[in-house]
Amino acid sequence: MNKRYRRTIIAGNWKMNMLASGIKPFTEELIPLVPDFHKWCETVVCVPFPLLPEALRVFKSYRIRVGAQNMSQFESGAYTGEVSSAQLMDIGVGYVIIGHSERRELYGETDMTVNKKVHAALNGSLCPIICVGETLVQREAGVTNNLVATQLKSALYGVQVDKPHRAVIAYEPIWAIGTGKTATPDDAQQVCREIRAVIRSLYGAHAARVIPVLYGGSMNEKNAPDLLAQQDIDGGLIGGASLKPASFAAIINAANPF
Ligand code: 13P
Repeated sequence: MNKRYRRTIIAGNWKMNMLASGIKPFTEELIPLVPDFHKWCETVVCVPFPLLPEALRVFKSYRIRVGAQNMSQFESGAYTGEVSSAQLMDIGVGYVIIGHSERRELYGETDMTVNKKVHAALNGSLCPIICVGETLVQREAGVTNNLVATQLKSALYGVQVDKPHRAVIAYEPIWAIGTGKTATPDDAQQVCREIRAVIRSLYGAHAARVIPVLYGGSMNEKNAPDLLAQQDIDGGLIGGASLKPASFAAIINAANPF
């Protein structure tokens, strides 16, 4: 499987951190450290909803793409506190994280809600970053591949053959998120290869060749080079390290194949 068919994506997930006033200083520190990054990767930063306008304004001149961290599965209506795909697209958001394990664990999102959100994103023009991953108990029980395959098949259930090409899959082992524990490059590669096999079984060889699969979970400047060198890992979804310009820059540079 040749990596050059797929775009490399380095995506930050700022979670519930940062203020609008911090975006410009963050960017001014980051950009000199990653000259010409757009030649080798697409850089995305997924910010909290209130920060979207400022992120769009500041990042635009530097070709950093902006993503949201969640959205409603509904189109519009009486859903207090929710944000729709149309509202995200309306202001120029390109990406949206769907099914992050924190949303599944803390807010009760199920495979079924994830599936509805994936449909909502793909029916518009958003690129959903669909998160899958196992707990430590599940890994130790040896069910990682089956579980991740089920999560992915559920997330894409009913998505027509011509639709999934805008999707991005992120493999985020839950035990590696925010813990400082990272999957070994071999383990991460093995699950990402399985993810690609599932995509192939659902949508064929072309889809499997072009849909990017990211790794997430305590990715940092030290482990990024080995993880990003794996055949089926096309980038990263980065939490803590994406809030520090020097660390985020080092990860973006680690994705440079030249
Ligand atoms: P950390 O990089 O902080 O482990 O977070 C990973 C993550 O959850 C990205 O979505």
